[in-house]
Amino acid sequence: MRIILIGPPGAGKGTQCQRLVEFLKVPHLSTGEMLRAEVRSRTPAGVEAANFMEQGQLVPDPIIVGMVSRRLQAPDCRSGCLLDGFPRTLPQAETLDDLLERRAMTVDGVIELAVPRDELVRRMLARRREDDDPEIFSKRITSFEVQTAPLLDYYLRQGKLASIDGLGTAEEIFDRVKIAVRRFERTARS
Ligand code: AP5
Ligand code: MG
Repeated sequence: MRIILIGPPGAGKGTQCQRLVEFLKVPHLSTGEMLRAEVRSRTPAGVEAANFMEQGQLVPDPIIVGMVSRRLQAPDCRSGCLLDGFPRTLPQAETLDDLLERRAMTVDGVIELAVPRDELVRRMLARRREDDDPEIFSKRITSFEVQTAPLLDYYLRQGKLASIDGLGTAEEIFDRVKIAVRRFERTARS
């Protein structure tokens, strides 16, 4: 299974992926986590990415696409993966389609975690991650609404989208996620 999780900052993509890793036995590819590792290691890509992340802006595609493309080629991704935070724009979605097509692979399904803005802010304030700052967080939400939300229609038109209410306990949401995954599995088999 190759599944994309889409949702605004704080929607619970990472939280649900932790559970899905156990459930599906496939690796979790979070572009945000990959970038934070590059920033901490002060690699050239990390130094460049930090300028954008600190402003709540998307990191340029050459950095992101290079990172994801290398990761997708690793042997552990052969049987599937969870894509968390990528793609985030229509051009990234088209690039992903190209990358997968070259390997005779496809996206099996896309899960949207829908959470209202006030709850996102509440979760961010309770979390305190290194890149969480209330003003920047608000910019990240706007970036999601403007640049990433159009992707939902892209995948809806392909019949691949499962939109899930992201309010409730993490376990309640995971029950909804599993129902979506079973639907993707049935479609992949048919
Ligand atoms: P990224 O790391 O992907 O951040 P994000 O999309 O802003 O999402 P978060 O990781 O903040 O939230 P999440 O949905 O994973 O929620 P979580 O499970 O942590 O990206 C960071 C930056 O990197 C971007 O801003 C951009 O600059 C750059 N970047 C990344 N990918 C890129 C790309 N493709 N192109 C360009 N730039 C890119 O949950 C949040 C909190 O809520 C946690 O504390 C959790 O414990 C809690 N929580 C989870 N579920 C629940 C629940 N049900 N109830 C209560 N609390 C909950
Ligand atoms: Mg995350």
